[in-house]
Amino acid sequence: MKHCILVTGGAGFIGSNFVLDWLAQSQQSVINLDKLSYAGNLQNLASLQGDARHVFVHGDIGDSDLVAKLLSTHQPRAVVNFAAESHVDRSIHGPEAFVQNNIVGTFRLLEAVRSYWQTMDVEGRAAFRFLHVSTDEVYGSLAPDEPAFTEQHPFEPNSPYSASKAASDHLVRAWHHTYGLPVLTTNCSNNYGPLHFPEKLIPLVIVNALALKPLPVYGDGQQIRDWLYVKDHCSAIRRVLQAGRVGETYNIGGWNEQANLSIVRTICELLDRMAPRADGKPYQEQITFVTDRPGHDRRYAIDARKVEQELGWKPQETFESGIAKTVQWYLDNQDWVAHVQSGAYRDWVHTQYGAAIAQGQAGAA
Ligand code: NAD
Ligand code: DAU
Repeated sequence: MKHCILVTGGAGFIGSNFVLDWLAQSQQSVINLDKLSYAGNLQNLASLQGDARHVFVHGDIGDSDLVAKLLSTHQPRAVVNFAAESHVDRSIHGPEAFVQNNIVGTFRLLEAVRSYWQTMDVEGRAAFRFLHVSTDEVYGSLAPDEPAFTEQHPFEPNSPYSASKAASDHLVRAWHHTYGLPVLTTNCSNNYGPLHFPEKLIPLVIVNALALKPLPVYGDGQQIRDWLYVKDHCSAIRRVLQAGRVGETYNIGGWNEQANLSIVRTICELLDRMAPRADGKPYQEQITFVTDRPGHDRRYAIDARKVEQELGWKPQETFESGIAKTVQWYLDNQDWVAHVQSGAYRDWVHTQYGAAIAQGQAGAA
């Protein structure tokens, strides 16, 4: 398939938004490799059913033979690596999956890609890119008065999740330095938007509020995150892939620091207007302070000047516009939420795609 790209983790939150946006703007096909962990949901890509430009492959980035076969069959001009375990709380309860998928998985993917890249002609090798999607959490936690993370900030990861992402970032860097693999790394702040799995703060609060359940706020709720609408993250990745300098890392963020409690209150106020409670009471009544996350990072903030000045990227959404769109999306897509919560999306993979996809064979979705 000429001029395609290989996307890993493209059935997850950011990956599926990326694949949908990519195919809305480009004629270049996408080979989408995803192991369909609990966070991978093919229903996110249902609108691509029958679109020959999207080839879904059920499999693991750590399966070297599968990845080698995909690379030699489809000859992608780039790999965009989203595949990872992504939830900090899960990493605290069970870190091993994070070591396996995020570190060992990235290592095996890099090795398979290196072998493929070495078979290319000079022109192909120069044009090829491996873009690794990473997080601001690798930089650790900021004091209230510290400047935002630049690309020069030392790595000080504090959770098993962020340590595993930091390790994968180091592997990517080393594969460039040692082997010359043309890599790019992006370190982005907290995303929010459509198709976000409701274990993360923003979708969890929307979904729980509508179900009249408690809205759990960890500790004092004054931890700060820097929120970016997912489509803006996707446009930044496209821009870095297009014009980023090989071997460089780019911080991506929306200059939008907010305390968790303020985020939760904003969502409650939006819901009071957009879907008022039947009893007329405010959703804020459901806010419940719960035990803090162990080792909870206090503050993240991204200095996005490099990607803005070097590559001319800017986010399109303000937090106000992005969060309103997000709440509306969840109101309009309560079936999606119900399927995710019941686990029915897993059955849907069988119903829609049959045993071949469910057992790991390649096929168009
Ligand atoms: P997600 O958990 O929603 O999706 C991850 C996807 O990767 C799932 O579809 C899962 O099935 C797949 N996957 C996991 N391990 C795999 C493996 N070994 N082989 C193949 N597929 C595998 O995560 P997300 O929030 O979409 O995050 C995507 C990437 O972006 C991650 O690398 C994450 O670290 C990074 N990131 C996320 C955020 C955020 O706010 N969500 C911010 C910055 C960076
Ligand atoms: O910063 C980028 C990172 O953002 C990504 O690398 C991660 O993949 C992504 O999951 C996200 O990590 P966070 O831990 O910041 O996201 P989460 O939505 O889990 O939590 C956001 C904040 O809200 C955090 O300070 C913890 C708090 N929180 C979270 C949950 C789930 C609560 O107070 N209550 C909750 O129930």
